[in-house]
Amino acid sequence: MHIGTIGAADVAQAVAAHAIRAGHQVTLSNSRGPETLGEVIERLGPGARAGTREEAAAADFVLLAAPWVKVPQALAGLPDWQGRILMDATNHFATYAPDYQRSPLDGRTSSEIVASLAPGARVVKVFNTLIARLIAARPDERGGRRVLFLSGDDAEAKQQVADLVRSFGFSPLDLGCLKDGGRMQQLDNPLAGPDLIRFT
Ligand SMILES: NC(=O)c1ccc[n+]([C@@H]2O[C@H](COP(=O)([O-])OP(=O)(O)OC[C@H]3O[C@@H](n4cnc5c(N)ncnc54)[C@H](OP(=O)(O)O)[C@@H]3O)[C@@H](O)[C@H]2O)c1
Repeated sequence: MHIGTIGAADVAQAVAAHAIRAGHQVTLSNSRGPETLGEVIERLGPGARAGTREEAAAADFVLLAAPWVKVPQALAGLPDWQGRILMDATNHFATYAPDYQRSPLDGRTSSEIVASLAPGARVVKVFNTLIARLIAARPDERGGRRVLFLSGDDAEAKQQVADLVRSFGFSPLDLGCLKDGGRMQQLDNPLAGPDLIRFT
């Protein structure tokens, strides 16, 4: 599989490392251009390359891992998504430490907003509920598997993402559609944060 990332910081690097270990190819992109990602690519090793946003967005699976306030810019002007899968790892922080203010969502879930900014993409919300350190950690904890919540409106896309993260070692748990499942796993809701390990 080819996985692209829009954003190349902690979350994207954690996901990229799992993907590479599982034998996939990853193209990482950021706002400043591929030439700024040399160290990251070197650290991730063979299987990783730096690309433009457009190159990353052309992959089979695309991970959105940019700050919420930059999401409109990060998705702007990309070619038609043609049903490709956009994995939304974002959380709607308007600011980071120390105050962590939330951006207004005007009654929608953050992933519904992401979907509206990426017409034609099949959006699956995933990787947003754990801190980057836990995303990066070995998913096969204490003989179990780390649970990864996901939600989305396209059953086949969710299945494909579930298979992908299973190949990384996680135990995916489908919460439903972007409106209901997406809400349960977004900031300030019960499934944002808990680190669960499944033993069965
Ligand atoms: N960190 C965590 O523990 C964690 C856990 C779960 C979910 N999340 C969420 O996941 C997302 C990513 O978090 P993060 O901590 O990995 O990184 P982050 O600090 O939120 O984002 C930084 C990355 O986004 C890139 N970026 C900024 N504007 C961009 C644009 N217009 N186009 C493409 N890339 C752009 C930056 O590239 P430049 O350096 O070139 O600007 C950098 O690679 C956020 O929405 C965050 O809330 C974070």
